Amino acid sequence: MAALSRSILSFIILAFIKKPDFLSCQSLECNPGDFLALNAFHKQLDNPIDGWAGPISGCCHRPGVICEISIAVPSRVVSLDLGSRRLQGGFVDSLTDLEHLRFLNLSHNLLRGFLPVKLFQMQNLEVLDLSYNDLYGSFHVEISMPLMKSFNISNNNFVGPIEANLCHNASNVETVDLSNNYFSGEVPASIAKCSSLRQLFLNGNHLSGNLPEGIFELRNLQELQLRENRFSGQLSDRVGKLVHLVKLDISDNLFSGSIPNSFSGLTKLEHFSAGSNSFSGPLPHSLVNSPSLSALYLGNNSLSGPISINCSVMIHITYLDLHSNIFDGPIPAELSACHQLTYLDLGRNQKLLSELPSSFQNLRALKHLLLMKASLVNFYAAFQALQHCGNLTTLILNGNFMNEEIPQNPDLQFQMLKTLVIANSQVRGSLPVWLRSCTNLQLLDLSWNQLSGTIPTWVGELNHLFYLDLSLNSLTGGMPESFAKLGNHTNLSFSSMTDSSGISVYFAIPGRRSLKYNSILSLPPTLDLSNNMLNGPIILGLGNLKWLHVLKLHNNSFSGNIPDTLSGMVNLESLDLSLNNLSGEIPPSLVNLNFLSYFNVSFNKLSGVVPSGGQFQTFPISCFIENNGLCNLLLAPCLSDSGQSNWNQTAEERSVLARFRLPFEVGAAAGFVLTVGFCFISGWVFKK
Ligand SMILES: *[C@@H]1O[C@H](CO)[C@@H](O)[C@H](O)[C@H]1NC(C)=O
Ligand SMILES: *[C@@H]1O[C@H](CO)[C@@H](O)[C@H](O)[C@H]1NC(C)=O
Ligand SMILES: *[C@@H]1O[C@H](CO)[C@@H](O)[C@H](O)[C@H]1NC(C)=O
Ligand SMILES: *[C@@H]1O[C@H](CO)[C@@H](O)[C@H](O)[C@H]1NC(C)=O
Ligand SMILES: *[C@@H]1O[C@H](CO)[C@@H](O)[C@H](O)[C@H]1NC(C)=O
Ligand SMILES: *[C@@H]1O[C@H](CO)[C@@H](O)[C@H](O)[C@H]1NC(C)=O
Ligand SMILES: *[C@@H]1O[C@H](CO)[C@@H](O)[C@H](O)[C@H]1NC(C)=O
Ligand SMILES: *[C@@H]1O[C@H](CO)[C@@H](O)[C@H](O)[C@H]1NC(C)=O
Ligand SMILES: *[C@@H]1O[C@H](CO)[C@@H](O)[C@H](O)[C@H]1NC(C)=O
Ligand SMILES: *[C@@H]1O[C@H](CO)[C@@H](O)[C@H](O)[C@H]1NC(C)=O
Ligand SMILES: *[C@@H]1O[C@H](CO)[C@@H](O)[C@H](O)[C@H]1NC(C)=O
Ligand SMILES: *[C@@H]1O[C@H](CO)[C@@H](O)[C@H](O)[C@H]1NC(C)=O
Repeated sequence: MAALSRSILSFIILAFIKKPDFLSCQSLECNPGDFLALNAFHKQLDNPIDGWAGPISGCCHRPGVICEISIAVPSRVVSLDLGSRRLQGGFVDSLTDLEHLRFLNLSHNLLRGFLPVKLFQMQNLEVLDLSYNDLYGSFHVEISMPLMKSFNISNNNFVGPIEANLCHNASNVETVDLSNNYFSGEVPASIAKCSSLRQLFLNGNHLSGNLPEGIFELRNLQELQLRENRFSGQLSDRVGKLVHLVKLDISDNLFSGSIPNSFSGLTKLEHFSAGSNSFSGPLPHSLVNSPSLSALYLGNNSLSGPISINCSVMIHITYLDLHSNIFDGPIPAELSACHQLTYLDLGRNQKLLSELPSSFQNLRALKHLLLMKASLVNFYAAFQALQHCGNLTTLILNGNFMNEEIPQNPDLQFQMLKTLVIANSQVRGSLPVWLRSCTNLQLLDLSWNQLSGTIPTWVGELNHLFYLDLSLNSLTGGMPESFAKLGNHTNLSFSSMTDSSGISVYFAIPGRRSLKYNSILSLPPTLDLSNNMLNGPIILGLGNLKWLHVLKLHNNSFSGNIPDTLSGMVNLESLDLSLNNLSGEIPPSLVNLNFLSYFNVSFNKLSGVVPSGGQFQTFPISCFIENNGLCNLLLAPCLSDSGQSNWNQTAEERSVLARFRLPFEVGAAAGFVLTVGFCFISGWVFKK
């Protein structure tokens, strides 16, 4: 690369000096072979390249082309940089006629088809980036590219085994990226010949079998990325020979056995991921005494024994994920000596059974603490300690402190907290007043507990909340008027949500006594007060919550009318008011809720005509049943004063209505598309 950039530089300098010369002598401008090759390439594409169309002579003035100029002979094309140009068409063989090409970047285009064998024989090519196209075919070719340094065909549709003799005549290769294709079979033993390799990316394929011994001969390897394949067997202790490794990711494979105790020589290793395999046995001593590691991800295995992280050595450890294993308790108090810890997940280790050590108050850098189903006891002590972790933004404690009272100490402070989840824990008591000081809360899930008492006014003043779930508790009293302001600072761009967005949480599925795994970033803006003992009216101001997508109030004792202001919740997709004591009519204005795809008012005391039009054509009858005389053509004919049916439904009318009901799927699909679109526009579905 360095040599290449030097020559690019010299071209730029030369270009300034020489330009008038070769403009006046265009026939000499570039080599005729190169000229033909570029023209053939351009002609065969489905669409013209910007700036290449029209009467151009020569090669070197075209966008994306760099030539090497020499005074005596016609200049040669050395670099073709056409990434992200929306190029469409088959891969064009004529490019391989650019004999002096050193740099070829066609990534992020729509090129399809097979690669020509000649491509792998380009003697001067140093950098080949064809990533993010629709290229396909199998990959058994003789590679003879003596100067190749960086080879990137990631994110295409290549299939079959990697049969290429990757480095037979290309031993200078430093980077090989075959990730996110459909390669299968084993990694060829010949990989050992790639002695200069620094980065090897094979992630996101269907590769299987044991890792070949040869891979551990690649002494210059700095990054080995094998995530999301089907590699199996033990991880060889020869991994310890890769002394230059900085990042090793073997997560989401089928590795088993114990993790080898061979990390003491890996003095540069910063990142080790081996999550979602079947590793068992204890944490190896050399791994938990690694001074260089900053990120250790071992979640979702069957590792056992104590959590033996030695913080006096692991001074750089920042991310520690040991969730879903069978580690023995207690949670070691010494963990608090890992001063840089910002992310700690010990959840789903059901044998931990302990208190949270009070020393955790020293984890001042801690931002994300995930301890779901860690069999914790002593709720009060845990919160006394955690309140000192002033950077804490995510706290997930589902399935702990069973039957304990939620701490009520009004002095507790969690200023930075954005996500608090203590669901499915059967905890008792009223909504704790210290929550009032959590003014940054965006997500609060206290569902599936035994909380009692009323919902205090201050809940409605948490004005960053976009997800509030208090369902499946025993809350009483009315809905506070302050809910009209709930989440009034909620920013529909959710740009401020990125802090916890990569984190996943388990959510209760009412009725099924089970939990659902969801990433926080996939959660729709929600207000869920269902399955409590709330009463009184649905407040008019609820209609202010334009940001709301899901409103669940079912199975309470709400009474009075359904306010027609609810039509102000313009983004609403789901509205469940069933199993309450609501009376009066369904406000016709609700037909203006264009995204509504779920609506249920069954089991109330409603009467009058069900509105028609809009999404209301799509809701099945079961959403309206068990009321005091709701009617429409389908449900039950509405009765006139005289007790006669208001209109006589003919067979024709019925069939017209049956057709009206068809758009249910259409409406739901439209709602879905719009939601997904919204999420994309807002950047909400992407990890930052
Ligand atoms: C190739 O082009 C793409 C898109 O313009 C760019 O992201 C990528 O870094 C380039 N690859 C190399 C090796 O320069
Ligand atoms: C590899 O290089 C050697 C010379 O170094 C040459 O004889 C041989 O033909 C090359 N192999 C291929 C497949 O190009
Ligand atoms: C391969 O190309 C893609 C897209 O340009 C890039 O994101 C990726 O980092 C490249 N891989 C290597 C190893 O450079
Ligand atoms: C846990 O690992 C297993 C394979 O060992 C995998 O099938 C499963 O999807 C993983 N679970 C999660 C939540 O990543
Ligand atoms: C932790 O590391 C220190 C310093 O190397 C060492 O003295 C101590 O024995 C280690 N503790 C354990 C439990 O390995
Ligand atoms: C947050 O973390 C930083 C970096 O570790 C630390 O310096 C700071 O004191 C912490 N803030 C609080 C309030 O503890
Ligand atoms: C949001 O509500 C708070 C009171 O809870 C109020 O002070 C603030 O002005 C409101 N902000 C907006 C944008 O309505
Ligand atoms: C929402 O967030 C974006 C990006 O951070 C910001 O530009 C915009 O002003 C915010 N809107 C409101 C109403 O706070
Ligand atoms: C409604 O809530 C009560 C508890 O308040 C519960 O026993 C009952 O099963 C719930 N009904 C439905 C249909 O979910
Ligand atoms: C339902 O509302 C009526 C008044 O409309 C009231 O008399 C009755 O007690 C309420 N029933 C319940 C179960 O709340
Ligand atoms: C409407 O709610 C009732 C009571 O909660 C439930 O039994 C029924 O299945 C719901 N209807 C639909 C279509 O979900
Ligand atoms: C419905 O039909 C009956 C006879 O079938 C007729 O007497 C009555 O007037 C009709 N009612 C209306 C509203 O058209």
